[in-house]
Amino acid sequence: MAPRGSYCRRVMGVAVAVAACALCLLPATTSGALRVGFYQSSCPNAEALVRQAVAAAFARDAGVAAGLIRLHFHDCFVRGCDASVLLTKNPAGGQTERDAAPNNPSLRGFEVIDAAKAAVEAACPRTVSCADIIAFAARDSVKLTGNVDYQVPAGRRDGNVSIAQDAFDNLPPFIFTAQKLAERFANKSLSLEDMVVLSGAHTVGRSFCSSFVDRVRNSTTGAAIVDAGLDPGYAAQLRALCPTRDTLATTPMDPDTPATLDNNYYKLLPQGKGLFFSDNQLRVNATMNALVTRFAANEAEWKQRFADAMVKMGHIEVQTGRCGQIRVNCNVVNPSTSSPEVELAGEDQETGGAVAAS
Ligand code: HEM
Ligand SMILES: *[C@@H]1O[C@H](CO)[C@@H](O)[C@H](O)[C@H]1NC(C)=O
Ligand SMILES: *[C@@H]1O[C@H](CO)[C@@H](O)[C@H](O)[C@H]1NC(C)=O
Ligand SMILES: *[C@@H]1O[C@H](CO)[C@@H](O)[C@H](O)[C@H]1NC(C)=O
Ligand SMILES: *[C@@H]1O[C@H](CO)[C@@H](O)[C@H](O)[C@H]1NC(C)=O
Repeated sequence: MAPRGSYCRRVMGVAVAVAACALCLLPATTSGALRVGFYQSSCPNAEALVRQAVAAAFARDAGVAAGLIRLHFHDCFVRGCDASVLLTKNPAGGQTERDAAPNNPSLRGFEVIDAAKAAVEAACPRTVSCADIIAFAARDSVKLTGNVDYQVPAGRRDGNVSIAQDAFDNLPPFIFTAQKLAERFANKSLSLEDMVVLSGAHTVGRSFCSSFVDRVRNSTTGAAIVDAGLDPGYAAQLRALCPTRDTLATTPMDPDTPATLDNNYYKLLPQGKGLFFSDNQLRVNATMNALVTRFAANEAEWKQRFADAMVKMGHIEVQTGRCGQIRVNCNVVNPSTSSPEVELAGEDQETGGAVAAS
Protein backbone atom coordinates (compact mmCIF):
# COMPACT_ATOMS: atom_id res chain seq x y z
CA MET A 1 0.00 0.00 0.00
CA ALA A 2 1.34 3.42 -0.91
CA PRO A 3 2.02 6.01 1.74
CA ARG A 4 -1.21 7.83 2.41
CA GLY A 5 0.57 11.15 2.13
CA SER A 6 1.13 10.52 -1.54
CA TYR A 7 -2.42 9.41 -2.29
CA CYS A 8 -3.53 12.66 -3.85
CA ARG A 9 -0.30 13.11 -5.70
CA ARG A 10 0.43 9.73 -7.21
CA VAL A 11 -1.83 6.82 -6.49
CA MET A 12 -4.92 8.07 -8.21
CA GLY A 13 -3.25 9.76 -11.15
CA VAL A 14 -3.25 13.44 -11.79
CA ALA A 15 -6.81 14.07 -12.96
CA VAL A 16 -8.51 12.09 -10.23
CA ALA A 17 -6.11 13.44 -7.65
CA VAL A 18 -7.18 16.97 -8.43
CA ALA A 19 -10.81 15.99 -8.03
CA ALA A 20 -10.12 14.16 -4.77
CA CYS A 21 -8.23 17.05 -3.27
CA ALA A 22 -10.78 19.57 -4.47
CA LEU A 23 -13.42 17.52 -2.67
CA CYS A 24 -11.39 17.63 0.49
CA LEU A 25 -11.27 21.41 0.34
CA LEU A 26 -15.03 21.89 0.13
CA PRO A 27 -16.80 23.06 3.29
CA ALA A 28 -16.92 20.19 5.74
CA THR A 29 -20.68 20.04 5.47
CA THR A 30 -20.42 18.72 1.93
CA SER A 31 -17.41 16.40 2.23
CA GLY A 32 -15.74 14.27 4.87
CA ALA A 33 -17.27 15.86 7.93
CA LEU A 34 -15.42 16.30 11.19
CA ARG A 35 -16.69 14.17 14.05
CA VAL A 36 -16.75 14.46 17.84
CA GLY A 37 -14.84 11.50 19.30
CA PHE A 38 -12.86 10.94 16.12
CA TYR A 39 -9.95 9.39 18.04
CA GLN A 40 -12.12 7.34 20.39
CA SER A 41 -10.76 4.02 19.20
CA SER A 42 -7.54 5.04 17.42
CA CYS A 43 -6.18 7.16 20.29
CA PRO A 44 -8.57 7.21 23.24
CA ASN A 45 -6.35 9.47 25.38
CA ALA A 46 -5.63 12.05 22.69
CA GLU A 47 -7.86 14.79 24.07
CA ALA A 48 -6.80 14.12 27.67
CA LEU A 49 -3.12 14.29 26.74
CA VAL A 50 -3.61 17.62 25.00
CA ARG A 51 -5.58 18.90 27.98
CA GLN A 52 -2.73 17.92 30.32
CA ALA A 53 -0.15 19.70 28.19
CA VAL A 54 -2.27 22.85 28.08
CA ALA A 55 -2.95 22.73 31.83
CA ALA A 56 0.76 22.34 32.62
CA ALA A 57 1.67 25.30 30.41
CA PHE A 58 -1.20 27.38 31.81
CA ALA A 59 0.03 26.73 35.36
CA ARG A 60 3.39 28.25 34.40
CA ASP A 61 1.98 31.13 32.34
CA ALA A 62 -1.76 31.80 32.14
CA GLY A 63 -1.14 33.95 29.05
CA VAL A 64 -0.62 30.91 26.85
CA ALA A 65 -4.37 30.30 26.90
CA ALA A 66 -4.95 33.52 24.95
CA GLY A 67 -2.12 32.55 22.65
CA LEU A 68 -3.68 29.17 21.88
CA ILE A 69 -7.12 30.63 21.18
CA ARG A 70 -5.55 33.04 18.71
CA LEU A 71 -3.40 30.27 17.22
CA HIS A 72 -6.54 28.35 16.23
CA PHE A 73 -8.03 31.48 14.63
CA HIS A 74 -4.84 32.25 12.70
CA ASP A 75 -4.55 28.63 11.61
CA CYS A 76 -8.13 28.37 10.36
CA PHE A 77 -8.19 31.65 8.43
CA VAL A 78 -5.15 30.75 6.34
CA ARG A 79 -5.49 27.62 4.15
CA GLY A 80 -8.10 26.28 6.55
CA CYS A 81 -7.54 24.58 9.91
CA ASP A 82 -4.55 22.53 8.71
CA ALA A 83 -1.77 23.54 11.12
CA SER A 84 -0.02 25.41 8.29
CA VAL A 85 0.61 28.19 10.81
CA LEU A 86 3.07 25.91 12.63
CA LEU A 87 5.36 25.18 9.70
CA THR A 88 8.86 26.65 9.96
CA LYS A 89 9.79 25.95 6.35
CA ASN A 90 8.17 26.95 3.10
CA PRO A 91 8.96 24.03 0.74
CA ALA A 92 8.84 26.45 -2.18
CA GLY A 93 11.32 28.77 -0.45
CA GLY A 94 10.61 32.12 1.14
CA GLN A 95 8.86 33.04 4.35
CA THR A 96 6.12 31.05 6.06
CA GLU A 97 2.83 32.11 7.64
CA ARG A 98 4.59 31.85 10.95
CA ASP A 99 7.17 34.45 9.83
CA ALA A 100 4.56 36.94 8.59
CA ALA A 101 3.99 40.15 10.58
CA PRO A 102 0.46 39.23 11.76
CA ASN A 103 2.04 36.19 13.47
CA ASN A 104 5.62 37.14 14.22
CA PRO A 105 6.53 37.93 16.97
CA SER A 106 3.11 38.10 18.63
CA LEU A 107 1.72 34.59 18.12
CA ARG A 108 2.50 32.29 21.06
CA GLY A 109 1.82 28.82 22.39
CA PHE A 110 3.87 26.90 19.81
CA GLU A 111 5.80 25.05 22.52
CA VAL A 112 2.51 23.90 24.08
CA ILE A 113 1.47 22.32 20.79
CA ASP A 114 4.90 20.66 20.54
CA ALA A 115 4.55 19.25 24.08
CA ALA A 116 1.04 17.99 23.38
CA LYS A 117 2.18 16.43 20.11
CA ALA A 118 5.10 14.67 21.85
CA ALA A 119 2.71 13.17 24.41
CA VAL A 120 0.23 12.10 21.75
CA GLU A 121 2.93 10.63 19.47
CA ALA A 122 4.28 8.59 22.39
CA ALA A 123 0.82 7.13 23.00
CA CYS A 124 -0.36 6.76 19.38
CA PRO A 125 2.27 7.32 16.70
CA ARG A 126 1.17 9.10 13.48
CA THR A 127 -2.49 9.14 14.37
CA VAL A 128 -3.48 12.58 15.65
CA SER A 129 -3.13 15.62 13.39
CA CYS A 130 -1.49 18.83 14.52
CA ALA A 131 -4.55 20.73 13.28
CA ASP A 132 -6.77 18.76 15.69
CA ILE A 133 -4.29 19.33 18.51
CA ILE A 134 -4.57 23.09 17.93
CA ALA A 135 -8.39 22.87 17.98
CA PHE A 136 -8.37 20.81 21.19
CA ALA A 137 -5.86 23.17 22.82
CA ALA A 138 -7.99 26.20 21.97
CA ARG A 139 -11.03 24.50 23.50
CA ASP A 140 -9.04 23.66 26.65
CA SER A 141 -7.90 27.28 26.85
CA VAL A 142 -11.49 28.52 26.63
CA LYS A 143 -12.40 26.14 29.43
CA LEU A 144 -9.48 27.25 31.63
CA THR A 145 -10.12 30.98 31.19
CA GLY A 146 -13.90 31.08 30.83
CA ASN A 147 -15.21 27.84 32.30
CA VAL A 148 -16.97 27.30 28.99
CA ASP A 149 -16.87 23.78 27.61
CA TYR A 150 -17.63 22.52 24.14
CA GLN A 151 -16.96 19.41 22.12
CA VAL A 152 -14.56 19.61 19.22
CA PRO A 153 -15.42 17.72 16.03
CA ALA A 154 -12.11 16.27 14.82
CA GLY A 155 -10.56 14.49 11.85
CA ARG A 156 -8.66 17.42 10.35
CA ARG A 157 -5.53 16.57 8.38
CA ASP A 158 -2.38 18.63 8.18
CA GLY A 159 -1.43 20.72 5.18
CA ASN A 160 1.96 20.84 3.51
CA VAL A 161 2.09 24.48 2.38
CA SER A 162 2.86 27.64 4.32
CA ILE A 163 3.37 30.97 2.55
CA ALA A 164 3.75 34.30 4.33
CA GLN A 165 1.63 36.18 1.79
CA ASP A 166 -1.39 33.98 2.57
CA ALA A 167 -1.38 35.35 6.13
CA PHE A 168 -1.53 38.94 4.85
CA ASP A 169 -4.26 38.08 2.34
CA ASN A 170 -6.59 36.29 4.75
CA LEU A 171 -6.12 37.46 8.33
CA PRO A 172 -8.11 40.59 9.21
CA PRO A 173 -5.73 43.54 9.78
CA PHE A 174 -6.33 45.80 12.78
CA ILE A 175 -6.53 48.85 10.53
CA PHE A 176 -9.57 47.55 8.59
CA THR A 177 -12.97 49.22 8.65
CA ALA A 178 -16.10 47.36 9.75
CA GLN A 179 -17.08 46.55 6.19
CA LYS A 180 -13.68 45.19 5.20
CA LEU A 181 -13.41 43.16 8.38
CA ALA A 182 -16.81 41.65 7.63
CA GLU A 183 -15.62 40.76 4.12
CA ARG A 184 -12.66 38.82 5.49
CA PHE A 185 -15.00 36.84 7.76
CA ALA A 186 -17.58 36.33 5.01
CA ASN A 187 -14.79 34.91 2.87
CA LYS A 188 -14.49 32.21 5.53
CA SER A 189 -18.24 31.60 5.66
CA LEU A 190 -18.51 33.47 8.96
CA SER A 191 -21.35 35.93 9.46
CA LEU A 192 -21.37 39.43 10.87
CA GLU A 193 -22.65 37.95 14.11
CA ASP A 194 -19.90 35.30 14.16
CA MET A 195 -17.40 38.12 13.78
CA VAL A 196 -18.79 40.12 16.69
CA VAL A 197 -19.07 36.99 18.84
CA LEU A 198 -15.52 35.81 18.10
CA SER A 199 -14.04 39.28 18.64
CA GLY A 200 -15.00 38.83 22.30
CA ALA A 201 -11.84 36.68 22.50
CA HIS A 202 -10.10 40.03 22.96
CA THR A 203 -11.21 39.78 26.58
CA VAL A 204 -8.06 37.72 27.18
CA GLY A 205 -4.48 38.28 26.18
CA ARG A 206 -2.20 41.09 25.29
CA SER A 207 -0.92 43.21 22.45
CA PHE A 208 2.38 44.75 21.45
CA CYS A 209 2.56 48.52 20.86
CA SER A 210 2.74 48.22 17.07
CA SER A 211 -0.92 47.16 16.87
CA PHE A 212 -2.35 50.30 18.51
CA VAL A 213 0.34 53.01 18.80
CA ASP A 214 -0.87 54.78 15.64
CA ARG A 215 -4.10 55.57 17.53
CA VAL A 216 -2.23 57.58 20.15
CA ARG A 217 0.80 58.95 18.29
CA ASN A 218 1.23 60.57 14.90
CA SER A 219 3.07 57.90 12.93
CA THR A 220 5.55 60.34 11.37
CA THR A 221 6.15 62.87 14.16
CA GLY A 222 5.34 60.78 17.24
CA ALA A 223 3.22 63.66 18.55
CA ALA A 224 0.24 62.87 20.78
CA ILE A 225 -3.07 62.19 19.06
CA VAL A 226 -6.29 60.51 20.23
CA ASP A 227 -8.02 58.37 17.64
CA ALA A 228 -11.79 58.64 17.35
CA GLY A 229 -13.54 56.28 19.73
CA LEU A 230 -10.63 56.16 22.17
CA ASP A 231 -10.98 57.43 25.73
CA PRO A 232 -8.38 60.24 26.26
CA GLY A 233 -7.24 58.92 29.64
CA TYR A 234 -6.77 55.42 28.25
CA ALA A 235 -4.99 56.91 25.25
CA ALA A 236 -2.55 58.71 27.56
CA GLN A 237 -1.73 55.45 29.35
CA LEU A 238 -1.12 53.67 26.06
CA ARG A 239 1.07 56.52 24.82
CA ALA A 240 3.20 56.38 27.97
CA LEU A 241 3.66 52.63 27.47
CA CYS A 242 4.78 53.07 23.86
CA PRO A 243 7.37 55.81 23.31
CA THR A 244 7.88 54.41 19.79
CA ARG A 245 6.06 51.92 17.59
CA ASP A 246 8.94 49.49 17.95
CA THR A 247 8.85 49.43 21.75
CA LEU A 248 8.44 45.76 22.64
CA ALA A 249 6.05 46.44 25.53
CA THR A 250 2.68 44.71 25.76
CA THR A 251 -0.61 45.66 27.35
CA PRO A 252 -3.67 43.55 28.15
CA MET A 253 -6.63 44.09 25.81
CA ASP A 254 -8.96 43.84 28.82
CA PRO A 255 -7.09 45.60 31.65
CA ASP A 256 -9.84 44.77 34.17
CA THR A 257 -9.76 40.96 33.87
CA PRO A 258 -6.95 40.10 31.42
CA ALA A 259 -6.89 36.35 32.13
CA THR A 260 -10.65 35.75 32.30
CA LEU A 261 -12.81 34.95 29.30
CA ASP A 262 -15.84 37.07 30.22
CA ASN A 263 -18.03 39.60 28.40
CA ASN A 264 -16.02 42.60 29.60
CA TYR A 265 -14.77 43.29 26.06
CA TYR A 266 -18.27 44.38 25.09
CA LYS A 267 -18.48 46.65 28.15
CA LEU A 268 -15.14 48.29 27.37
CA LEU A 269 -16.02 49.18 23.77
CA PRO A 270 -18.64 51.86 24.56
CA GLN A 271 -16.22 53.34 27.13
CA GLY A 272 -13.67 54.01 24.37
CA LYS A 273 -11.47 51.23 25.70
CA GLY A 274 -11.37 48.89 22.74
CA LEU A 275 -7.61 48.64 22.16
CA PHE A 276 -7.52 48.33 18.37
CA PHE A 277 -9.00 50.51 15.65
CA SER A 278 -10.73 47.30 14.50
CA ASP A 279 -12.30 46.77 17.93
CA ASN A 280 -13.87 50.22 17.78
CA GLN A 281 -15.21 49.48 14.30
CA LEU A 282 -17.75 47.13 15.89
CA ARG A 283 -19.35 50.25 17.34
CA VAL A 284 -19.61 52.29 14.15
CA ASN A 285 -21.82 49.76 12.37
CA ALA A 286 -25.32 49.74 13.85
CA THR A 287 -25.90 46.02 13.30
CA MET A 288 -22.66 45.10 14.98
CA ASN A 289 -23.13 47.62 17.77
CA ALA A 290 -26.52 46.16 18.62
CA LEU A 291 -24.78 42.83 19.19
CA VAL A 292 -22.11 44.53 21.29
CA THR A 293 -24.82 45.98 23.52
CA ARG A 294 -26.56 42.65 23.75
CA PHE A 295 -23.47 40.65 24.71
CA ALA A 296 -22.46 43.31 27.25
CA ALA A 297 -25.82 42.70 28.93
CA ASN A 298 -25.86 38.92 28.70
CA GLU A 299 -22.69 37.01 29.42
CA ALA A 300 -24.28 33.55 29.40
CA GLU A 301 -25.69 34.08 25.93
CA TRP A 302 -22.36 35.34 24.61
CA LYS A 303 -20.48 32.38 26.08
CA GLN A 304 -22.83 29.92 24.42
CA ARG A 305 -22.52 31.70 21.10
CA PHE A 306 -18.77 31.94 21.46
CA ALA A 307 -18.47 28.17 21.92
CA ASP A 308 -20.70 27.59 18.88
CA ALA A 309 -18.71 30.08 16.78
CA MET A 310 -15.40 28.46 17.75
CA VAL A 311 -16.74 25.12 16.51
CA LYS A 312 -17.89 26.79 13.28
CA MET A 313 -14.51 28.47 12.82
CA GLY A 314 -12.88 25.06 13.35
CA HIS A 315 -14.55 23.79 10.17
CA ILE A 316 -13.04 26.34 7.79
CA GLU A 317 -11.65 24.68 4.64
CA VAL A 318 -10.60 21.53 6.49
CA GLN A 319 -8.89 18.64 4.76
CA THR A 320 -10.19 15.23 5.80
CA GLY A 321 -10.06 11.61 4.70
CA ARG A 322 -7.13 10.88 2.44
CA CYS A 323 -5.99 14.43 1.69
CA GLY A 324 -3.29 16.13 3.67
CA GLN A 325 -1.20 14.17 6.14
CA ILE A 326 -0.68 13.43 9.82
CA ARG A 327 2.51 15.33 10.51
CA VAL A 328 4.96 13.53 12.80
CA ASN A 329 6.63 16.80 13.81
CA CYS A 330 4.16 19.68 13.84
CA ASN A 331 6.77 22.14 12.63
CA VAL A 332 7.74 20.41 9.38
CA VAL A 333 5.97 18.40 6.71
CA ASN A 334 6.75 14.68 6.68
CA PRO A 335 9.67 13.68 4.49
CA SER A 336 8.22 12.26 1.29
CA THR A 337 10.10 9.00 1.91
CA SER A 338 8.47 8.47 5.31
CA SER A 339 6.74 5.17 5.90
CA PRO A 340 2.95 4.87 5.78
CA GLU A 341 1.07 6.52 8.59
CA VAL A 342 -1.38 4.76 10.84
CA GLU A 343 -3.85 7.30 9.64
CA LEU A 344 -7.52 7.10 8.78
CA ALA A 345 -7.59 4.88 11.84
CA GLY A 346 -10.50 6.90 13.16
CA GLU A 347 -12.64 6.06 10.16
CA ASP A 348 -11.37 2.55 9.66
CA GLN A 349 -12.07 1.38 13.16
CA GLU A 350 -15.25 3.23 13.85
CA THR A 351 -17.14 3.20 10.61
CA GLY A 352 -15.55 0.29 8.82
CA GLY A 353 -13.73 2.45 6.29
CA ALA A 354 -16.22 5.13 5.35
CA VAL A 355 -13.41 6.84 3.50
CA ALA A 356 -13.39 4.17 0.85
CA ALA A 357 -16.73 5.49 -0.28
CA SER A 358 -15.57 9.10 -0.55
C1 HEM B 1 -11.95 40.95 14.04
C2 HEM B 1 -10.74 40.85 13.56
C3 HEM B 1 -9.53 40.73 14.46
C4 HEM B 1 -8.47 41.56 14.48
C5 HEM B 1 -8.25 42.77 13.57
C6 HEM B 1 -7.58 41.10 15.51
C7 HEM B 1 -6.36 41.69 15.82
C8 HEM B 1 -5.56 41.34 16.89
C9 HEM B 1 -4.33 41.98 17.23
C10 HEM B 1 -3.72 43.16 16.48
C11 HEM B 1 -3.83 41.37 18.34
C12 HEM B 1 -2.57 41.73 19.10
C13 HEM B 1 -1.33 41.31 18.34
C14 HEM B 1 -0.11 41.94 18.94
O1 HEM B 1 0.39 41.47 19.98
O2 HEM B 1 0.36 42.94 18.42
C15 HEM B 1 -4.76 40.34 18.70
C16 HEM B 1 -4.63 39.52 19.79
C17 HEM B 1 -5.51 38.49 20.09
N1 HEM B 1 -6.57 38.07 19.31
FE1 HEM B 1 -7.36 39.06 17.75
N2 HEM B 1 -8.10 40.00 16.09
C18 HEM B 1 -9.31 39.72 15.49
C19 HEM B 1 -10.12 38.66 15.76
C20 HEM B 1 -9.85 37.66 16.68
C21 HEM B 1 -10.56 36.42 16.79
C22 HEM B 1 -11.69 35.97 15.87
C23 HEM B 1 -9.99 35.73 17.82
C24 HEM B 1 -10.32 34.36 18.36
C25 HEM B 1 -11.49 33.79 18.31
C26 HEM B 1 -8.94 36.55 18.36
C27 HEM B 1 -8.18 36.26 19.46
C28 HEM B 1 -7.15 37.01 19.94
C29 HEM B 1 -6.46 36.74 21.19
C30 HEM B 1 -6.84 35.68 22.21
C31 HEM B 1 -5.42 37.66 21.28
C32 HEM B 1 -4.38 37.76 22.40
C33 HEM B 1 -3.20 36.85 22.06
C34 HEM B 1 -2.14 36.74 23.12
O3 HEM B 1 -2.29 37.26 24.21
O4 HEM B 1 -1.14 36.08 22.83
N3 HEM B 1 -8.87 37.71 17.63
N4 HEM B 1 -5.80 40.33 17.79
C1 LIG C 1 -11.17 35.04 -0.34
O1 LIG C 1 -9.78 35.22 -0.17
C2 LIG C 1 -8.99 34.64 -1.19
C3 LIG C 1 -7.53 34.77 -0.80
O2 LIG C 1 -7.19 36.09 -0.62
C4 LIG C 1 -9.31 35.32 -2.49
O3 LIG C 1 -8.54 34.78 -3.52
C5 LIG C 1 -10.79 35.14 -2.78
O4 LIG C 1 -11.12 35.84 -3.93
C6 LIG C 1 -11.64 35.62 -1.64
N1 LIG C 1 -13.01 35.21 -1.88
C7 LIG C 1 -14.03 35.98 -1.64
C8 LIG C 1 -15.40 35.38 -1.88
O5 LIG C 1 -13.92 37.11 -1.25
C1 LIG D 1 -22.90 46.79 8.78
O1 LIG D 1 -21.90 46.12 8.02
C2 LIG D 1 -22.40 45.13 7.15
C3 LIG D 1 -21.23 44.44 6.53
O2 LIG D 1 -20.42 45.33 5.85
C4 LIG D 1 -23.34 45.76 6.14
O3 LIG D 1 -23.89 44.75 5.32
C5 LIG D 1 -24.44 46.49 6.86
O4 LIG D 1 -25.22 47.19 5.92
C6 LIG D 1 -23.89 47.45 7.87
N1 LIG D 1 -25.02 47.97 8.66
C7 LIG D 1 -25.15 49.23 8.99
C8 LIG D 1 -26.39 49.60 9.70
O5 LIG D 1 -24.31 50.06 8.75
C1 LIG E 1 1.03 63.77 11.45
O1 LIG E 1 1.87 64.89 11.38
C2 LIG E 1 2.08 65.38 10.06
C3 LIG E 1 3.12 66.50 10.12
O2 LIG E 1 2.74 67.45 11.07
C4 LIG E 1 0.74 65.85 9.50
O3 LIG E 1 0.93 66.30 8.17
C5 LIG E 1 -0.23 64.68 9.52
O4 LIG E 1 -1.51 65.09 9.08
C6 LIG E 1 -0.34 64.08 10.91
N1 LIG E 1 -1.15 62.90 10.86
C7 LIG E 1 -2.09 62.63 11.75
C8 LIG E 1 -2.81 61.33 11.58
O5 LIG E 1 -2.36 63.37 12.66
C1 LIG F 1 1.01 19.00 -0.96
O1 LIG F 1 0.13 17.92 -1.03
C2 LIG F 1 -0.70 17.94 -2.16
C3 LIG F 1 -1.64 16.75 -2.08
O2 LIG F 1 -2.08 16.52 -0.80
C4 LIG F 1 0.12 17.88 -3.43
O3 LIG F 1 -0.71 17.99 -4.56
C5 LIG F 1 1.15 19.02 -3.43
O4 LIG F 1 2.01 18.87 -4.51
C6 LIG F 1 1.95 19.03 -2.14
N1 LIG F 1 2.78 20.22 -2.12
C7 LIG F 1 4.00 20.22 -1.63
C8 LIG F 1 4.70 21.54 -1.66
O5 LIG F 1 4.53 19.22 -1.17
